Amino acid sequence: MKSPIAVIGGTGGVGRLVTRKLMARGETVRVIGRATLRARRHLPPLAQFFLGDVREPETLRTPLHGCGAVVYVMEPGPGFRGSGGPAGILESGVVNTLDTLLRGPVSGGPRFVLVSRPDSPTHTQERLTGRHPAGEDAVRASGLPYTVVRPGRRTEHDVAEACVQALFGGPGTRQPAPDRALA
Ligand SMILES: NC(=O)c1ccc[n+]([C@@H]2O[C@H](COP(=O)([O-])OP(=O)(O)OC[C@H]3O[C@@H](n4cnc5c(N)ncnc54)[C@H](OP(=O)(O)O)[C@@H]3O)[C@@H](O)[C@H]2O)c1
Repeated sequence: MKSPIAVIGGTGGVGRLVTRKLMARGETVRVIGRATLRARRHLPPLAQFFLGDVREPETLRTPLHGCGAVVYVMEPGPGFRGSGGPAGILESGVVNTLDTLLRGPVSGGPRFVLVSRPDSPTHTQERLTGRHPAGEDAVRASGLPYTVVRPGRRTEHDVAEACVQALFGGPGTRQPAPDRALA
């Protein structure tokens, strides 16, 4: 990809694997997170780290500017603050990220990969209630090319690989995958 790829939550367990896999492909990666120390500890030296918080949209502007894709693999964790619980933060974070992206040039992209939470409603509950897991509807409504990864009981490595394949269509290929949900 000619443009950088932003990984929101790129210092976390899944995100740092996504970052390493993308960098191994020669991609330029911008990691967004709230802790410089965590970034120093877990990221390869050539990863670009930006201090940012998805609850504060102004902190997303610089790192998202000019990106060709975004992998959203943020998890609020036990110390979150804000209304709506972790799902609420995930939802508003996705909305803030999309709003920031849609302010920039959007022709043909950027591509958005959302890792949905595994404790979100099951497919059966979804059919009964019409509710989708947090953030998914906003991504679908954005008009951006997207992939939703629903991890289920997958390992960190499986989830990270699914994110990379969502961007490049599989090992060895460089074609973007079509809009879809990976369960
Ligand atoms: N771990 C697994 O085995 C596994 C397996 C399957 C699926 N998943 C799913 O994958 C996703 C990520 O999980 P994980 O285990 O990688 O989580 P994690 O290790 O707790 O990492 C969470 C990431 O989100 C960032 N973050 C948290 N709050 C933020 C905020 N307000 N703004 C910006 N960044 C923020 C954290 O960085 P800072 O706190 O430094 O900001 C960190 O980089 C979750 O949806 C999880 O359910 C995980």
